[in-house]
Amino acid sequence: MSADYPATLGHATERGSGGRATAVAHPNIALIKYWGKRDEHLILPRADSLSMTLDLFPTTTRVHLDPEAGHDEVTLNGRPAEGEALRRVVAFLNLVRKRAGLASKAVVASENTVPTGAGLASSASGFAALAVAAAAAYGLGLDATALSRLARRGSGSAARSLFGGFAVWHAGTDSGTALQADLSSYAEPVPVSDIDPALVIAVVDAGPKTIPSRAAMRRTVETSPLYEPWAVSSGDDLRLMRAALLAGDFETVGEITERNALGMHATMLAARPAVRYLSPATLTVLDRVLRLREDGVPAYATMDAGPNVKVLCRRADAERVAEAVRDAAPSGSVLVAKAGPGARLLPGSG
Ligand code: DP6
Repeated sequence: MSADYPATLGHATERGSGGRATAVAHPNIALIKYWGKRDEHLILPRADSLSMTLDLFPTTTRVHLDPEAGHDEVTLNGRPAEGEALRRVVAFLNLVRKRAGLASKAVVASENTVPTGAGLASSASGFAALAVAAAAAYGLGLDATALSRLARRGSGSAARSLFGGFAVWHAGTDSGTALQADLSSYAEPVPVSDIDPALVIAVVDAGPKTIPSRAAMRRTVETSPLYEPWAVSSGDDLRLMRAALLAGDFETVGEITERNALGMHATMLAARPAVRYLSPATLTVLDRVLRLREDGVPAYATMDAGPNVKVLCRRADAERVAEAVRDAAPSGSVLVAKAGPGARLLPGSG
């Protein structure tokens, strides 16, 4: 499936028109997970997902055009990018160039403070920052919705990092052309009553992933007999979650968060061969979270493509939850994140 953009979506803008721009974006943690694509090329997901953007681990990305260069130059945390990481950034820049009608190669320098590969979604903040900076440097005049679609092409979860607080990423529809399908899948902010959330992040293992999430996702969709039922029930979870967020019903938000994540991991465990990201330390933290609830503290766990646990709780309970989690995983590190801002251009970066 390919989608060509009409010229109206890529007009010149004054910001960043000097061919350089710097943007910052934060990671997000999904409460309703994105797991499974229906289109690998356009990165169209099977189901809607919903996340909270964090106030920790920003990625800052600087893009400047170099009309003389023969290839893109990409550094990640000061080191030249290579292999799959480089391929994905260059493919993304090719997309931006096509829309801008410009051939110039770019120099991209990205400083990422997320522990890479630890299941903390470094690709979300990375591609959100790259989308904002590259769109500005190449002079595309895109609004936040269009930027979320663009970020999606780098990494699906990046679409949600365009927005602060809570964001939903619409799966979109396949009823029309490829372009219509592409346009229909974007992220936007979710209305929330004041639930004052925190995410206590237990990094029980900061090492690289056993299998990259993109490959694990594909294997799950293709081989797991549990995938289809989970994708369907995830739609129900999303509707109930939106209502609970609007009503400020924290317990329901938490319950849906935990069951949606456990369901996602169940689909992986049933894949052939199985994909298992959860480790003994993960389960120890999950037990501790259950005990917190038994003690009357509303705390709910979610896990992504890695063994680390993020515990959703109220800000007022965050220190108590962090202490309990630290106790359960003494060799790991524990951080407390709050809701953070959406991706943005840094002023004067043009
Ligand atoms: C488990 O967005 O990294 O974190 O679109 O293939 O780049 P690609 O996948 P990615 O997957 C994130 C999956 C997840 C759940 C989520 O963030 O919704």
